[in-house]
Amino acid sequence: MTNPAILQCTHLAKQFTDGGLNTHVLSDINLTVNKGDRLAIVGSSGSGKSTLLHILGGLDEPTDGTVEILGQDINQLSVNKLSQLRNKSLGFVYQFHHLLPEFSAVENVAIPLVIGGETPKQAQQLAEELLIKVGLGHRLIHKPSELSGGERQRAALARALITQPACLLADEPTGNLDHRTAQAIFELIIELNESLGTALIIVTHDTNLASKMDRVLTLTDGILATVD
Ligand SMILES: Nc1ncnc2c1ncn2[C@@H]1O[C@H](COP(=O)(O)OP(=O)(O)OP(=O)(O)O)[C@@H](O)[C@H]1O
Ligand SMILES: [Mg+2]
Repeated sequence: MTNPAILQCTHLAKQFTDGGLNTHVLSDINLTVNKGDRLAIVGSSGSGKSTLLHILGGLDEPTDGTVEILGQDINQLSVNKLSQLRNKSLGFVYQFHHLLPEFSAVENVAIPLVIGGETPKQAQQLAEELLIKVGLGHRLIHKPSELSGGERQRAALARALITQPACLLADEPTGNLDHRTAQAIFELIIELNESLGTALIIVTHDTNLASKMDRVLTLTDGILATVD
């Protein structure tokens, strides 16, 4: 039997219903992501990019359709099983960093490993190594409030990658960074993609970053289409 796709969604739709107001955000989205695939998702502000990424990552539920991660329909899983699958197989970089404010950078990055069963000492060691790679070796024990916006973004990226996930879902991972830092982060992401086969789904306005992906998909009026 062939391996299942890392991530697949079928006839995915999302509408928000708030007090009589219906907002159709996504319509009939079909997407298959295999090991090592590199996808960029582009689209104007409010087109539904973050909503799509949240649904693909199991952070929000679709109104219609299914999402499968490694062959498992995520909306059929118990809360615990879904958390385990997400911890093990997905790395998430949110549009706004969501680091835990009371923990240091190294603790924030180590947490997914500890949750996955790693010893705290080993988790800390690996977290330090990855933070050094993203250029934060001098900010290990700083709390998120003591980091700059770009430093928080790099810490959030390290947290997403620490478990060597099958798929990285990243929402504007280089959005707040200067050109050089953005380039360094981007190279790190590509290095992981090439060495570990990490699939990439990256929402970005950065045309340079998008052009380095295998597929660029654009979200317009709820429809996801391939850009040639
Ligand atoms: N919880 C919600 N309730 C109602 N509407 C929502 C909700 N979340 C998002 N929306 C609407 O869905 C649309 C898509 O939002 P989304 O955040 O996915 O856009 P985006 O493409 O990520 O935009 P940006 O580039 O500005 O980050 C927006 O019009 C937004 O108002
Ligand atoms: Mg967004």
